[in-house]
Amino acid sequence: MKTQVCIIGGGPSGLLLSQLLHLKGIDTILLEKHSREYVLGRIRAGVLEHGFTELMREAECGDRMDAEGELHDGFEIVDNGIQHRVDLHKYTGASVMVYGQTEVTRDLYEARDRMQGKVIHNVEDVALHNLKAATPPYVTYRDSSGAQRIDCDFVIGADGFHGPSRKAIPRDVLREYEKVYPFGWLGVLSRTKPVNPELIYARNDRGFALCSMRSQVLSRYYIQVPLSDKAEDWSDAAFWAELKARLPQDVAARLETGPSIEKSIAPLRSFVAEPMRYGNLFLAGDAAHIVPPTGARGLNSAGSDIHYLYHGLIDHYLNGDDTGLNEYSAKALARVWKAQRFSWWMTSLLHSFPDTSEYDRHLQSTEMEYLFSSDAAQASLAENYVGLPF
Ligand code: PHB
Repeated sequence: MKTQVCIIGGGPSGLLLSQLLHLKGIDTILLEKHSREYVLGRIRAGVLEHGFTELMREAECGDRMDAEGELHDGFEIVDNGIQHRVDLHKYTGASVMVYGQTEVTRDLYEARDRMQGKVIHNVEDVALHNLKAATPPYVTYRDSSGAQRIDCDFVIGADGFHGPSRKAIPRDVLREYEKVYPFGWLGVLSRTKPVNPELIYARNDRGFALCSMRSQVLSRYYIQVPLSDKAEDWSDAAFWAELKARLPQDVAARLETGPSIEKSIAPLRSFVAEPMRYGNLFLAGDAAHIVPPTGARGLNSAGSDIHYLYHGLIDHYLNGDDTGLNEYSAKALARVWKAQRFSWWMTSLLHSFPDTSEYDRHLQSTEMEYLFSSDAAQASLAENYVGLPF
């Protein structure tokens, strides 16, 4: 087979790019290791920045998001029982869209179906070749009918942290930066009314908690847990009791509980790989960078990669101009590192760190006091949360 752009990974980044390029007449083939049902079974974050929603609309995938998603002008931070509101709209004029990543992915798959996009599932042994050679790159894989090969101009590695794309970059070229936090988030999805119209991020001596949502009938809650905990060791009753203990009393009193429909633990980790381009391979999203979920930057950072790549590829194919592709890695990484900084800051502000000194605890409290005494500090939080400009 032959295509212009071979995209590895059928998560939101790869799907969004293939949809955007298709609308500009640029041919893509997308390879995904898992089935569509598997991809759509993953529960991920649910807060989209304005730039991401604009990309969805440009991809002609924004209708259900605009109809069913909720625009939020702010969120709350609770500091050991005391509630503060971060007014995103006041400080930035912008809002965020609460709409689940699973729904984003579903809408993108439906759009790819409508346009008869080439999406191949259940591929195995994906390997990237000739990335920096004089001859064009190609990708090989196996499916149910045997060994296959795709010849292309460019390969996009949107295949997540564990995918083969980043690993195809030689070790002496790639630099990796990592920070692992000594805790995880236990998340529960329940068919209950969200406890609050806006998200609540709660700092508490017992550990962090987050009240989020997917819709007015579907809630998503998280509590910070030690890495040694297992999701199956947490009964629903134990989860609700611990969540309530970390929330202000009035919020806990009105929290609607119910059976969990999904319960899992996600470790918190920061990771960046540089460069994001190697020859004719371009990395995007989790293949190149991971953030802890605290600042809701994961999917949004992937979105900014796709924005830069999309424009770089349009300029290449439609205008014969390679500036965008040549600048891709540096531009994407500049924004990625700002998302890293913000996620690290939010994580440090809100979590209980085991084995920290009294000094560090004082600093964390002072950071919080400063935040809510300073318009400048709240403006800084707000502009990062709604998404820095592309
Ligand atoms: C979520 O709804 O899953 C969610 C929301 C905000 C975050 C992280 C996760 O910061």
